[in-house]
Amino acid sequence: MTKILMVCLGNICRSPLAEGILRDKLSNDFIIDSAGTGNYHIGDLPDKRSIKVAEKYGIDITNQRGRQFSVSDFDTFDFIYTMDNSNFKNVVKLARNENDIAKVKLILNEVYSNQNYDVPDPYHHSTQGFENVFKMLDEACEVIASKLLI
Ligand code: 4NP
Repeated sequence: MTKILMVCLGNICRSPLAEGILRDKLSNDFIIDSAGTGNYHIGDLPDKRSIKVAEKYGIDITNQRGRQFSVSDFDTFDFIYTMDNSNFKNVVKLARNENDIAKVKLILNEVYSNQNYDVPDPYHHSTQGFENVFKMLDEACEVIASKLLI
């Protein structure tokens, strides 16, 4: 069973959306989860604005609760998609070996190969920021899902 982890900083804005969007595109044969590199929002619901934009596109993410990324996630998951370059560096810093590092990817590189673009942190921005993030993640998750379903 393929296991995929989405990672951002707080695990309340971007990675819960990425988790919800990818789950919506795949069957229950895949395990999908999300986590934050920070510990600010452990146990919290996703941000209201993420819940709202997901709902707009027919996806319910209210079952999710914030949790922090842990080294054991390298053992559990096959693919670890980070939302931005800062998340990427923070996860790679925790890697124990080359095998761990090989699992870590920047999610937008699925769409824009080797460009190392960030999914911008929408936390301090407007509702439009969340809409933009949703669209970027939907595009990236479409590529991820199509690769996994081959
Ligand atoms: P996220 O956004 O990483 O997309 O969940 C953030 C949410 C909260 C904080 C930072 C980023 N924070 O500093 O509390």
